[in-house]
Amino acid sequence: MPPAALRRPTALLTAASAAMLVAGTLSGAATSQAATTQPCDLYAAGGTPCVAAHSTTRALYGNYTGALYQVRRVSDNATRDIGVLGAGGYANAAAQDSFCAGTSCVITIVYDQTGRNNRLTQAPPGGFNGPAAGGYDKLANATMAPVTLNGNRAYGVFVSPGTGYRNNSTNGIATGDQPEGMYAILDGTHYNDGCCFDYGNAETNSRDNGNGTMETIYFGNSRGWGSGAGNGPWVMADQENGLFSGVNPGYNAGDPTVTHRFLTAIVKGEPNHWAIRAGNAQSGGLSTYYNGARPNAAGYNPMKKEGAIILGIGGDNSNSSAGTFYEGVMTSGYPSDATESAVQANIVAAGYAQGSGGGAALNTGSTVSLRATTACCTDRYLSHSGAGVATAVVTAAGSAAEKANASWTVRPGLANGACRSFESKNTPGSYLRHQNFQLYLHPDDGSALFANDATFCSQAGVNGQGNSLVSYNFADRYVRHYAGTGYIASDGGSNSFDATALWPDDVSWVVTAPWTP
Ligand code: AHR
Repeated sequence: MPPAALRRPTALLTAASAAMLVAGTLSGAATSQAATTQPCDLYAAGGTPCVAAHSTTRALYGNYTGALYQVRRVSDNATRDIGVLGAGGYANAAAQDSFCAGTSCVITIVYDQTGRNNRLTQAPPGGFNGPAAGGYDKLANATMAPVTLNGNRAYGVFVSPGTGYRNNSTNGIATGDQPEGMYAILDGTHYNDGCCFDYGNAETNSRDNGNGTMETIYFGNSRGWGSGAGNGPWVMADQENGLFSGVNPGYNAGDPTVTHRFLTAIVKGEPNHWAIRAGNAQSGGLSTYYNGARPNAAGYNPMKKEGAIILGIGGDNSNSSAGTFYEGVMTSGYPSDATESAVQANIVAAGYAQGSGGGAALNTGSTVSLRATTACCTDRYLSHSGAGVATAVVTAAGSAAEKANASWTVRPGLANGACRSFESKNTPGSYLRHQNFQLYLHPDDGSALFANDATFCSQAGVNGQGNSLVSYNFADRYVRHYAGTGYIASDGGSNSFDATALWPDDVSWVVTAPWTP
C-alpha cells in the first residue's frame, strides 16, 4: 500500500477541471480536496502523479505538512529541518533565520514530498569529482537565493560551480523508455555555460552510460552540444552526451533565449516523443519550444533512462554549472499540456518575487565605505592600494588618497544585477574582484570570469552588524579581512584565511557614508 501522499485521484484532467482545481473549487470533489490545491494535486488529477517533489519554498501538495529541506550550520554542524507554515503552505524561513543566526548554513537535504523518499542530498563523485571532501560536490549556501511568495520569505537552492545534489537509489522514477514529465522553477538570470545545470532523471552510478541514459531539464548558455535562438540561456533537454534544443543535435531555431527572473521550465518524454516548454513563473502561460520525435542521432530511441535524480550537475557529475532552483517535480507518465497549464497557473498564483538578503541597502550608483566590525579593527575600512586590497585605517585627518582608496561606487553586479559590484572611486573602470581567493582591484576586462569574480551578493551581516558580501561564483565564500588583507573565505576551510576564529566578525562590514563622496 503506497503512503497516503501517493494515493491520489487519477481521473483525467480536462482544461476546465484544471482551471477549477487552481481555484480550489473542483465541483463534486470539493470536500475531498485539500484546502489548498498544489502542483502535485494537479498532476495526480491529470493521471500523471508526482513521483518526486522537491521545493525549499512551499508545499507541493495541498495537504503536505512535512519538512521541505534540512540546513546545517557551520558553527557546530547541527542540522535543522525546515518545514511549512501550515498544510500546503510556504516554507518557515524564520526557522532557518534563527537557526543560522551568527553563522552560515548550507542546505543538506531537499526532501521528497511524495512519500517515496526520493530526497536530494550532496552529490557523490562519479565520472568527475566534486570539490568537497571525498570528491563530493559542495552544498548550497542556504541564504543566497532569498525570495518571497505572496510576501512570505523563503530561500531557493543557489548552485555555484561545484555544487550538486543527487539520489542514485530512487523509488518510482521512470526507467528505460517509460514516460515521465518534469518542471522546475529556476532563476532565469543565474546561469553559465558550464556543464550542466540539470534537474531530472540521470544515471544511477553517476557516470556517462551513453546516449539516452538520462532525461533532464537543462538551463544555461552552454553551446557545447546544442543551442537555440539568440545568445542564450536556453531551456534544453539533457539526454546524455547531448543538450538538445530540438530534433537536431546542435542548433534549433525554435528554442528561444529565455531570461525570466522566475522561469518555469518543462521537459517531458515518452517513447520517441519529447517536448520542451517554458514560461514566466510570475505571469501568463506556457509556450512549447519543441514537441516531436527523439533527436536525429543514434541512441536516443528507445531511451535507456536509469532513474536517478540530479540537481545542478550533469549525469556524470560534471559540476561546473550555475543556477538557482526553487521547486520542481518529476511525474510518472507523460503529463498533458492541460495539466501543465494548470500547474503554471498555480505557480503564478504562488506569487514568486525577488527577496532581500537583509542588511543595509546597497543602492546602485551610490558611493559607500565598508567598515570592519572585528574588535581589533573598527577604525579600518576595505581599501585598495594600487591593485592590492586590504583594510586601512581612515580618519577625517587622513589624506585624500586614503579616503578615496576606501570609497566604492555600488554597481549592479557585473554578472547579475540582483547582486553588486564595487567600482573604485578613484580608479574608474576597476572593480573589487577575487583571484585565487584573494581580493584585488582590477580593470574590467569584459570577460565572464571577471564579471563573476567581481560580483558579490549582499546579506545581513553574519555577526548581526552591517552586511556580508558573498562571492557569486564561490557561494561558500564571504568577503573577509584576515591579517589585514582582503580575501573571500569559507568558514573553517583549508586556507589560513578561512580560520573559524573571528570569521563572523571578519565577514561583517558596516556600510557607511563614503570617505570620498
Ligand atoms: O549530455 C551532456 C552531459 O554530457 C551530461 O550531463 C554528462 O553526463 C555528459 O558529460
